[in-house]
Amino acid sequence: MPYAHITGWGMFVPEPVLTNDDIAKMVDTNDEWIRDRTGIRQRHIARENEFPSTLAVEASIKALQVANLAPTELDLIICASSSPEYIFPATACLIQDQIGATKAGAFDLSAACSGFIYATNMAAQAIRSGSIKNALVIGTETLSRFVNWKDRNTCILFGDGAGAFVIQASERPGGILSAVMHSDGSGADSLTLLGGGARYPATEASVHEGKHFIQMDGKEVFRFATRVMGRATQESLELAGLTTNDVQWIVPHQANYRIIETAAKYLKMPLDKFIINVDRYGNTSTASIPIATVEALEKGQIKSGDKVVFVGFGAGLTWGAMTVEWTGPIPAKRHVYPKRYRLFARLRSLLLRAVRLIEGFLSRREL
Ligand code: ACO
Repeated sequence: MPYAHITGWGMFVPEPVLTNDDIAKMVDTNDEWIRDRTGIRQRHIARENEFPSTLAVEASIKALQVANLAPTELDLIICASSSPEYIFPATACLIQDQIGATKAGAFDLSAACSGFIYATNMAAQAIRSGSIKNALVIGTETLSRFVNWKDRNTCILFGDGAGAFVIQASERPGGILSAVMHSDGSGADSLTLLGGGARYPATEASVHEGKHFIQMDGKEVFRFATRVMGRATQESLELAGLTTNDVQWIVPHQANYRIIETAAKYLKMPLDKFIINVDRYGNTSTASIPIATVEALEKGQIKSGDKVVFVGFGAGLTWGAMTVEWTGPIPAKRHVYPKRYRLFARLRSLLLRAVRLIEGFLSRREL
């Protein structure tokens, strides 16, 4: 049975920054309150012409570069998102087209902020089963589009960004060792985005009632998160045959500094073993774990051989954890340039669209 290794990683955040002081100009809040209660100082917000796929493509190309893998070698793309570009088509297909992953299957996965752990686990299982060799897993968000900027309970929390991992099969032991995934739909009401789905299709009334905005019972979500983070970490470690003493790094979902602090206390682990960047990005949902991981790798914190636990929670309710023995890229003699495939991908996409137009025109004439 092959092992599933994380061999590439990339992140991208839009340039514009929204500070707590900026938000204090929109709603009745202040920098001190937001920092005290959440640890957040600022977040990045997508420009009008930036979408989940736009951010995801940038992160994905970087991840493929690190893995030294051509997009054409990908077998599968899973995009986890809490703010997908459309209900359908899947954001994963838009990414597939833009990076030129010509032979990859592509689908979206909806498990809110736990989505990246779920998606990585799905890819790892497909690799271990032998059915695929190379997968791209992405967490990407422009949640700022679903935030009610008049609601101080939610608008202080979220930010935009994307992160991606390349997962590859290898005979070398290590990589993704274990994972747990959980859900509890009885808590579905505590964090919702109801509008635009089949129950509340977009109507004047649904917009008037603000159903297209994120709604949250912050206290309930806080209680749930502090209950599950530590437990899920321990479960995943037990499955891998490890304990907290074996772990070099925990990469938690970046929702609130206080939630991470509580998890550290529960696990009796020092806070400096936790990768924390919520202060600079806010809660980027599915993108938060890969963004924090990429930063930790680039700072030289996570090293080959380290045991790392990813742990997250989100709407659904969902939660999960994953234990990884870090290995890094698979050594290769040849060098590929995934960026160059973008131009080819654009031309290919234009050509395929033109062919479709011509075929449609000809078949109409035949009728
Ligand atoms: N500025 C100033 N005051 C505020 C603000 C604000 N931005 N927001 C709320 N308050 C007020 C409240 O109105 C309340 O006032 P009151 O006592 O007069 O009624 C007071 O501050 C305390 O409010 P609480 O809700 O009790 O504040 P709390 O300490 O619980 O912090 C927070 C709120 C930050 C939202 C916290 O509950 C939290 O982080 N919850 C978890 C949220 C989360 O992680 N969500 C993402 C899940 S992942 C996903 O799937 C997307």
